[in-house]
Amino acid sequence: MLSYRHSFHAGNFADVLKHIVLIEILEYLKKKDKSFCCIDTHAGPGTYQLNGDYALTNREFEKGIGKLWQRDDLPDRVANYVDLIKVFNSSALLTRYPGSSAIAKQLLRSKDRLFLYELHSTEIELLRNTVKKDRRIKVFHADGLKHAMGLLPPAEHRGLTLIDPSYEIKSDYNLVVETLVNMYKRFATGTYALWYPVVERSRNQKLEKAIHNSTIKNVQLFELGVRSDTDQLGMTASGMIVVNPPWTLAVTMQQILPWLADVFGYDGAGFYRIQTLFGE
Ligand SMILES: C[S@@+](CC[C@H](N)C(=O)[O-])C[C@H]1O[C@@H](n2cnc3c(N)ncnc32)[C@H](O)[C@@H]1O
Repeated sequence: MLSYRHSFHAGNFADVLKHIVLIEILEYLKKKDKSFCCIDTHAGPGTYQLNGDYALTNREFEKGIGKLWQRDDLPDRVANYVDLIKVFNSSALLTRYPGSSAIAKQLLRSKDRLFLYELHSTEIELLRNTVKKDRRIKVFHADGLKHAMGLLPPAEHRGLTLIDPSYEIKSDYNLVVETLVNMYKRFATGTYALWYPVVERSRNQKLEKAIHNSTIKNVQLFELGVRSDTDQLGMTASGMIVVNPPWTLAVTMQQILPWLADVFGYDGAGFYRIQTLFGE
């Protein structure tokens, strides 16, 4: 049974990094006229109310998007992300946060396609409500790790697959690598973005080693940490592992990650990593 609800965490520092990377990849794909296909294996409910009970329980968004909302000194690509979040808020007040599926929908052109998977019975209804009827988008109440495989390679032969699990079960760390390797086998030129939390560093080291030792080539990792590694305090950092990243992504992340680490770090303990897991 699934118990995880992303509404408790929406807009936190991990979402900021995840959604900046998502936007950068989709905007890069849009630079070419040719259509693309976007797959979101863990779509969530679409949008989140930041003034609702779930988000207000731990107010995680205040230490994420909340820290950027009113600043007028944002680096260019961070400002681009905040501008997109503003589209979902009708006033100057931050009350709504879009998830990956709503962000992708917002950036989709009429010729592009979006496939969304969500397994939770409540979240899928919220997601359907957010997406509404849209001929470009298909929503599935199904296991994204199992079923998205069947969409690859997409007819467009260009696209992004976002894999954003909650890692509720330790075996998820192995499962995501297995899935990524199988997806890559079917569509080796596609871009894949895998989100990961840092809760216990040894799990991440195993995950990175497994990807490094796999058949997957051209992988970059972007991580943002708010405090030093410890296995006592929950999530201290998170990152995105990107297969076949646009060449522009590392350039952008090099510009903005030091700034984000400075803004989000607790007591100056913020840090970042940019690493090539396997060069082309
Ligand atoms: C971290 S949240 C996703 C957040 C979302 N991507 C966003 O940016 O707003 C993970 C979601 O995946 C769902 N989920 C868990 N296992 C799944 C699976 N195997 N297939 C599809 N959805 C799954 C959970 O119910 C949860 O809503």
